Amino acid sequence: MKLVVPMEITEGESRVSITPDCIPALIKMGFKVFVQKDAGIGSSYTDDDYKKSGAKICSKLSELYGKANLVVKIQRPIKLKKINEYNLLKNCELLTLLYEQKFKNEFNMLKKLKINVFALEKMPRISRAQSMDVLSSQSNLSGYKAVIDAASEFNKAFPLMMTSAGTVAPAKVLVIGAGVAGLQAIATAKRLGSVVFAFDVRSSTKEQVESLGAKFVDVATNDSGETAAGYAKEMSASYKKKQNAILADTLKKMDIVITTALIPGKKAPVLLSKKMVESMKVGSIIIDLASEFGGNCELTKHGEKVIFKSKKIIGPKNLASSVAQDSSRLYSKNVVNFLMNSCDSGKFKSFNWEDEVVKETCVVKNLINPKKESK
Ligand code: NAI
Repeated sequence: MKLVVPMEITEGESRVSITPDCIPALIKMGFKVFVQKDAGIGSSYTDDDYKKSGAKICSKLSELYGKANLVVKIQRPIKLKKINEYNLLKNCELLTLLYEQKFKNEFNMLKKLKINVFALEKMPRISRAQSMDVLSSQSNLSGYKAVIDAASEFNKAFPLMMTSAGTVAPAKVLVIGAGVAGLQAIATAKRLGSVVFAFDVRSSTKEQVESLGAKFVDVATNDSGETAAGYAKEMSASYKKKQNAILADTLKKMDIVITTALIPGKKAPVLLSKKMVESMKVGSIIIDLASEFGGNCELTKHGEKVIFKSKKIIGPKNLASSVAQDSSRLYSKNVVNFLMNSCDSGKFKSFNWEDEVVKETCVVKNLINPKKESK
């Protein structure tokens, strides 16, 4: 089996799908690994690092894809100038992030090819799949980086400081949505010394928020806010009214707001209105991690910094890519664990089609017997 690692060509993407530390495990599983020249450089992994780990470097794109039984990517395939990644994918299996509901054209193009596609964002949220969960590994780092970026945009300090010239009050941070990204944002903001508040519709998050030393902003309700699968659900109109009033009041006291609220398969809920932002302190910062899915703040523009009445609203694009060295390493480890899951006596022969994680992530299955049909 030949596993191929192309360089990501999507604008703003610095990550690489497989990092050198994972190559020995792949070789042990029976893969030969081919990496495109300079594929890892955006994440600070050199061709030499790959070679030392046992991979082969390939500079010609057609040659690289020509070898592939399995192509591992991060971003969905694209057409960019002379490179058309769709034309390069032939008789192989592709592992990538896809978001087929959002990128319907790309999904339709992939459906026409003789390939199998695994959309890694569809990894089921079950305990044994935690180590394969790319959304968790990437969100965790995004949550961290959102706070670091907020701190560098903010014109005050985060921790309480007692100096001979006077006292600096700690920053107040509100994190909305206490999922994977939110919990890491809370932990990071606490480490930086700020006073942290957090809010989530899922009442089960209260304990997690408090265990990190943050104060939970409570909307009194009997509804758990959770679906049977453990995800947030759309709340009732009366709940939203109560939530709005509490948020409006809390926001006036905050310096930094990190929003991460998402409802799977839906547009992100708009929780911060223009009026609420208007009432916030001058100089306050909002980092809207939900911006890719429409944003939690009415004023958010994805990939832009909006300045509204001396408050900054930032809708970051691909924060995980801004910590590419770590995010690539974790993504790569997730992929290795996913492949390991289909191994028989430690060797990868083909995907285990009986397995839930394989069935749930496979979104295109046009290659019936990849081993026989491929080169
Ligand atoms: P997510 O990215 O879908 O949503 C982020 C957060 O926003 C969630 O905590 C959600 O409750 C919250 N939210 C939604 N609507 C809201 C609103 N109107 N106001 C405030 N908050 C709102 O969620 P994420 O981070 O991907 O994971 C959610 C949960 O799934 C985790 O806390 C964990 O329990 C579970 N999980 C399980 C895994 C596994 O077992 N393999 C892996 C990852 C997560």
